[in-house]
Amino acid sequence: FNAGPLHGVRVVLTAGPTREAIDPVRYISNRSSGKMGYALAAALQALGANVTLLSGPTNLSTPAGVLRVDLESAEQLLEESLRAVAGAQMFVGAAAVADYRVDMPADEKIKKADATMSLTLSRNPDVIAAVRQRDAKLFVVGFAAETEKLAEHARAKLERKKLDMIAANWVGHGRAFDRDDNALSIFWNGGERELPQASKSELARQLASLIAERFLAARN
Ligand code: PMT
Repeated sequence: FNAGPLHGVRVVLTAGPTREAIDPVRYISNRSSGKMGYALAAALQALGANVTLLSGPTNLSTPAGVLRVDLESAEQLLEESLRAVAGAQMFVGAAAVADYRVDMPADEKIKKADATMSLTLSRNPDVIAAVRQRDAKLFVVGFAAETEKLAEHARAKLERKKLDMIAANWVGHGRAFDRDDNALSIFWNGGERELPQASKSELARQLASLIAERFLAARN
């Protein structure tokens, strides 16, 4: 029995990278390790939440007490997200979702031929925006990975995707992706909070209690 502030709250959380197939053996992906999302899944679970973790490919073990669903592509993430949010009260998007997928992945391994080759990419669905559209009452927390204008871009995403909160991090040049530490700037309508550089597990605990605070305030 866990009587934390999120006791009984059903949370769906996405973590890790997506993989977009080029052919049966190759894919397009990104440097997300899943560490930030897994740490947050554990921290929300520790506050009493009932967490379903929708995970792209990672080398991490499932946090105790968390239900994990493995998937690869953005389209699979969308499908699993829409399935999982039925009956949930909160959605957290920590996954680094590929914005584009390969138009027509080859059925067989592509043979090398010409000196150059081109891939045509199509836009992937925006998972967190689709989840918000599906359920206006869900408490939705996004992340923003930025290499410039962190606050401006994060606030624009908060607005455009109709999120309740957004956790922004500086990425690239050895920051955030695939590291054990991070720093976050959290924005919501009417407020913000800086969480300075710390281990991802420490940051996740701070972010989880801020999420619980805002979630409970929104519910009352
Ligand atoms: O996994 P780690 O190695 O620990 O690294 C952590 C992290 C840097 C991946 C994490 O902290 C992080 O920032 N995750 C979000 C990465 C991202 O895709 O950010 P974005 O700014 O491109 O997307 C904004 C939001 O929209 C995110 O909540 C994202 O999950 C969501 N999104 C984006 C694109 C898309 N097609 N569908 C989405 O749902």
